[in-house]
Amino acid sequence: MFKPLKLRRITLPDRIIRAATFENMADAEGVPTAKFSELYTKLAAGGARSIITGFNHTSREGRAMQHFQAGIDDSRKIEAWRQIIADVKSAYPETRLMIQISHTGRQTIGQATRTPVKGASPIKCTYFRQRVTPLTTDEVKEKVDEYIRAAKNAQTAGFDGIQIHCAHGYLIHQFMSPFTNNRADEYGNDRLLFLRQIVEGVKAAVTLPVFLKISAADDRQRGLSLPLVMSYWPVIDSLEADAIEISYGMMEVAFNIIRGDHPLDPVLKHNRLFNRYHPALRWLFKHFVYHWYKRSFIDYCDLYNLENAAKIKAISKTPILVTGGIRKKSQIDYIINQRGLDGVTLSRPFVCEPDFINRLAADGEVISRCTSCNLCTVMCDSRQPLRCYQGPAR
Ligand SMILES: Cc1cc2nc3c(=O)[nH]c(=O)nc-3n(C[C@H](O)[C@H](O)[C@H](O)COP(=O)(O)O)c2cc1C
Repeated sequence: MFKPLKLRRITLPDRIIRAATFENMADAEGVPTAKFSELYTKLAAGGARSIITGFNHTSREGRAMQHFQAGIDDSRKIEAWRQIIADVKSAYPETRLMIQISHTGRQTIGQATRTPVKGASPIKCTYFRQRVTPLTTDEVKEKVDEYIRAAKNAQTAGFDGIQIHCAHGYLIHQFMSPFTNNRADEYGNDRLLFLRQIVEGVKAAVTLPVFLKISAADDRQRGLSLPLVMSYWPVIDSLEADAIEISYGMMEVAFNIIRGDHPLDPVLKHNRLFNRYHPALRWLFKHFVYHWYKRSFIDYCDLYNLENAAKIKAISKTPILVTGGIRKKSQIDYIINQRGLDGVTLSRPFVCEPDFINRLAADGEVISRCTSCNLCTVMCDSRQPLRCYQGPAR
């Protein structure tokens, strides 16, 4: 796990990567603040050599509903990111910083984007409950250009790589899935065209390594399933990404992306989709609707994406990383040395213990202190920056 990972356009110092984890640390316009420098420097000091940022919007229309998401769509953001990268690298020059770029599509609210919510097709997300206007064919081409511009901006800012977010129900996932893409134009006839144009355009525009994150399946019957994603694989492979991270799910059932506890009270208090309702309605939700809703939740277990990732690895020419429920040193060893995956990405263990990698270097078994209580996740919907709530602020 501590051996370098040689990829097409980059060699990562080891095989344990900090997964994209939303930080809620930008200002209200999406300009990242110095809090990012503090967080990434702390992770680098704790042994993390490869860090993927939380999702950054490629345009205002692609913003998430949370208050303080960062973006990479204008010069102020480029300058702010340049400073953050300089801060981290002045202390830890060997750190590799990759930016995750994303467009939310139908998975946002008009209050955050200040424009109508648009997606591949006019299919409402049951979580966000927004009216969705389908993108015209010309607008889809503009979206492709936005990703390419974001990648160029990332290169100007000095990032070491780009991860294109194709997972979790965001815009690229919406085009890939038959559940959210029933378009009649070329982007409906070929559900991978949007992804292809973005990756090919990004690779032509920048010299940076390109990573993808893909949901191997989601929670919708006509959505992404492992067989469908595997049938897509020859095309995805032909894009020659540096590595592809395998994840799960979409925001329709958001907890299935991460699994673990469902801390309902903070959701009802802080989440913008719930806290606007009268307390009586929230009480009803908690005591009645939630019990019906939670039937869609999948229980947490360690390594919950490993079997899907291993099946994809068996047919993939592109290196494969896996995310989800990796909590022990022996598990990382098993994933890499026995299951043959190329690397792992961890999110919540780093929220809980920024020095988790330094701990992994010790002899014997090492177990993350993260209990997947998911307070870090649901509190991202508040105005608080990312942190662990299991104990005192770290
Ligand atoms: C607080 C929080 C924020 C997250 N933000 C993102 C994100 O911005 N982009 C992304 O692709 N995944 C995001 N994820 C998912 C993680 O990258 C990861 O795939 C998932 O949490 C499973 O890994 P874990 O069990 O190590 O936490 C987030 C997860 C958490 C807990």
